[in-house]
Amino acid sequence: MAELIIAPSVLSMDYTKMLEQLRALEASKAEWIHYDVMDGHFVPNLSFGPDILKQFRKSTDMFLDVHLMVTDPEFFAPVFKDAGADMIVFHTEALDNDPVRVKELLDKIHAMGVQAGFSIKPDTPAEPFLHLVEDADMVLVMSVYPGYGGQSFIPEVLSKTRAFAKARDERNPKCRIEIDGGINDKTAKEAKANGVDTLVAGSYVFKRDIVEAVESLC
Ligand code: DX5
Ligand code: ZN
Repeated sequence: MAELIIAPSVLSMDYTKMLEQLRALEASKAEWIHYDVMDGHFVPNLSFGPDILKQFRKSTDMFLDVHLMVTDPEFFAPVFKDAGADMIVFHTEALDNDPVRVKELLDKIHAMGVQAGFSIKPDTPAEPFLHLVEDADMVLVMSVYPGYGGQSFIPEVLSKTRAFAKARDERNPKCRIEIDGGINDKTAKEAKANGVDTLVAGSYVFKRDIVEAVESLC
């Protein structure tokens, strides 16, 4: 399995202390920043657009993992690539859960020169997409219903992380398995025991000492 990566979600950052918290992330064992894009249609909430991502790009060299919770990822993928994303992850549900369209968008994102991944909500099955580990740099299994930070972890999704991890081991060891939602020191252990190698954590990291919180997830 690949080396563990921690990707704190800046949805939970205190924006009155943005630079201070960014420097704390850089000083921590986190290597990535997870950037949640919500359009008010795909999920019932709004977050940030490409201009704020550009500010992050100017302010840090950390890897920018962009999670698109939008109805039109085919339109927005190039917008966020231009704003500085290193990885673009979109939802299968936004493409009618059609594996052919999912593969096409993965290929299109790769052609832009950035990494590409797809995500599934808690109610979306893994099976139709298992073979796509061959075409993706990452699979993101949501462990809460997307839209808000601070929700409780849904343990039932771990059967899907196991299924994707098995497919990854058989077909493409380089594909990462990421989990997002309700991650804390306890749920991180469960996730890691079920094939996850990339942990997103928002409220858990930003509601306590950032360096210590990240350490406790490793
Ligand atoms: C939820 C977002 C998450 C969110 C996680 O829709 O995709 O990335 O920030 O927040 P926590 O870790 O607080 O559940
Ligand atoms: Zn996210």
